[in-house]
Amino acid sequence: MTERVWNEVDDYVSGLLIGRDEALDKALEASDRAGLPPINVSPNHGKMLNLIARIHGARRILEFGTLAGYSAIWLARALPADGELITLEADPRHAEVARGNIATAGLADRVEVKVGKALDTLPTLDGTFDLFFIDADKVNNPRYFQWSLDHSRPGSVIIVDNVVRGGLVLDGESTDPSVVGTRELGTLIAKEPRVSAAVIQTVGSKGYDGFALVVVDS
Ligand code: SAH
Ligand code: DHB
Ligand code: MG
Repeated sequence: MTERVWNEVDDYVSGLLIGRDEALDKALEASDRAGLPPINVSPNHGKMLNLIARIHGARRILEFGTLAGYSAIWLARALPADGELITLEADPRHAEVARGNIATAGLADRVEVKVGKALDTLPTLDGTFDLFFIDADKVNNPRYFQWSLDHSRPGSVIIVDNVVRGGLVLDGESTDPSVVGTRELGTLIAKEPRVSAAVIQTVGSKGYDGFALVVVDS
């Protein structure tokens, strides 16, 4: 099977099950226009995040890495009217584009974009979260995971994007900070008795990658 087939199948199923979506399509257009990199989750992946949040009944969600707000829109759509998504973004330009996209999607009442490096803005957050989506600078994934665990409750879900990266994760000798961070995260999850986890490999319009799905047991 070739990458071409993966992409065609990804497009085929998003065409079938998602189709055109004005707010999301506009969000990607605005992102492109502003010159932001196209590293948002794919439509199918975004929809999966939305479904997981709904299955879970998440009322309070924390996202690391907003970019143009594409995944934030998918996640926030799963929230009840009094729910809340806080999304952390280091780049003020990204945050500005995201705020516009979130407002266009009619979700400004339940989404807060916090500008600043996540490690600097995390201390300003209160309470626990039902769901975490970690998708910012991969080198800090061990720190983001630990913070999430410390602000979870039994049953909270932690999803970490980009943990496979075309197989780069296999390279224990790598000095690439993203790979080092991802491997450290794997070790941290493996030795953490309070969580259960799986890693799912994915192919499609964003290439060969994968995400970790973690549930906090206690
Ligand atoms: N979740 C988005 C994609 C995020 S891309 C989506 O799927 O639509 C990663 C984002 O993390 C970028 O916008 C980048 O600026 C941001 N980022 C990088 N380092 C960060 C940090 N230390 N704190 C917060 N955000 C950071
Ligand atoms: C990159 C970051 C992501 O979150 C992603 O999903 C794909 C690529 C990147 O930094 O290259
Ligand atoms: Mg990602």
